[in-house]
Amino acid sequence: MTETLTINIHRSPVSRLGELDPANIEFGKLFSDHMFAVDFVNGEWQEPQIVPYGDMAVSPANSALHYGQAIFEGMKAYRTAQGGVALFRPLDNLLRLNASAERMCMPALPEELFMQGLTQLVRLDAAWVPEAADTALYIRPFMFATDGLLGVRPSDTYRFMIITCPVGAFYNKPLRVRFEEKYVRSAEGGAGYAKNAGNYGAAMYPTKLAQQQGYNQLIWTDASEHRYVEESGTMNAIFVINNRIITPALSSSILDGITRRSVLQLARDWGMPVEERKVSTHEIIEALQTGTLQEAFGVGTAATIAPITAIGYEGHDYELAAVDNSAFSRRAAAALQAIRTGEAEDSHRWMVE
Ligand code: COI
Repeated sequence: MTETLTINIHRSPVSRLGELDPANIEFGKLFSDHMFAVDFVNGEWQEPQIVPYGDMAVSPANSALHYGQAIFEGMKAYRTAQGGVALFRPLDNLLRLNASAERMCMPALPEELFMQGLTQLVRLDAAWVPEAADTALYIRPFMFATDGLLGVRPSDTYRFMIITCPVGAFYNKPLRVRFEEKYVRSAEGGAGYAKNAGNYGAAMYPTKLAQQQGYNQLIWTDASEHRYVEESGTMNAIFVINNRIITPALSSSILDGITRRSVLQLARDWGMPVEERKVSTHEIIEALQTGTLQEAFGVGTAATIAPITAIGYEGHDYELAAVDNSAFSRRAAAALQAIRTGEAEDSHRWMVE
C-alpha cells in the first residue's frame, strides 16, 4: 500500500512493553504504547494523529455517553512464521464499521484513513505483536460522538480511534451455554447487525444471570418466539449435524461475523455442505437427543473458535461428546491459524502484510 496520507506521529518517550507477561495475558487490559485518533468536525475528517496511549478528555454532556452513538470493530494482527506481521481481512472490518456507522447516523470512514491509521499504528507498535501460539495483537477500532449536547439528535462531531492490546486465548475451556428464552439481544429491524456499543451493554445483565446459574455464556434466540438461534454470547453460532455445517442466516439482528464468514468459506473449500438458514432450538435439542449433533461452537474475532460442551434448555443440561482433531471446528481453527501465521497458502488473500 502506498503511504500518501500524512499522519502526525508523536512517539511515546517510554515503552510499557516490559509490563507484558506473555505467558499470562489478560484480554484487553494492557494496551500498546500508541493509539490512532482522528476527529470529524465541520463535515470533514481532520488531521490524523498517532499519539502515546492514554486518557483523554470528553465533555460530561458527550452524546455517546448519554445516547450511545458509539460503534467498534474487533480485529487481529498476527506474527507470521517469516517474522513479519499480518492483518486478517482488514477491509471486511472497514465495510462493517461503515455499515454500523450508517445505522447509527455516524460518518463513514474513508478506506485510506482506516488502512493507513491501522498499518502505521501496528508498524509502530510491532514489538507488541506476541509470538506464542494462539496469541495475537487485538485491534480495537472505534468511533464515538463528541458533541457536548444533551439534545437527542445525531452528533455533529465524532472521533475515530484505534487502540491495540496483546491477547491470548479468550476462553481457556469449552463453554457451557444455555438457550436464552426470556431476554433478547436484538429484534428484527433493530441494530443487532451493527457493532454498536449498546448491543454489548444490554447483553450483560442476561449473561450475568446465566453465569450465576453456572453457564459461561448464552445462546440468544429470536425476539418474537424464542424459537430460533441467533448468536452465542458475543459470537456467531455454528453447529455440525450429520456432517453438515449449519448456522443461522444473517439478518438485521445478527452480526455479520468475519470469522463466521471465513469458517464457512473453509467448509465450502473442503466440500462440506453449508446451510445458512433458520436454526430452531428444537432442532438442536433433537440432534443432541438422537446423537446427531457432532459439534457446536461460537466464532468471533476475540475467541476465534470456542467449542461448546453443554447446552442448557428448559432446566436440563445436554452434554456434547468430546471432539478429536478430525472435528470440523478443530480443523477450521488449525487452518485459520496456519493462514494467519503464513504457514499455509492464503488462497483467498485474506492476509495483509
Ligand atoms: C470480538 O470478537 O472482537 C468481539 O467483538 C467480542 C468482544 C466484545 C470481546
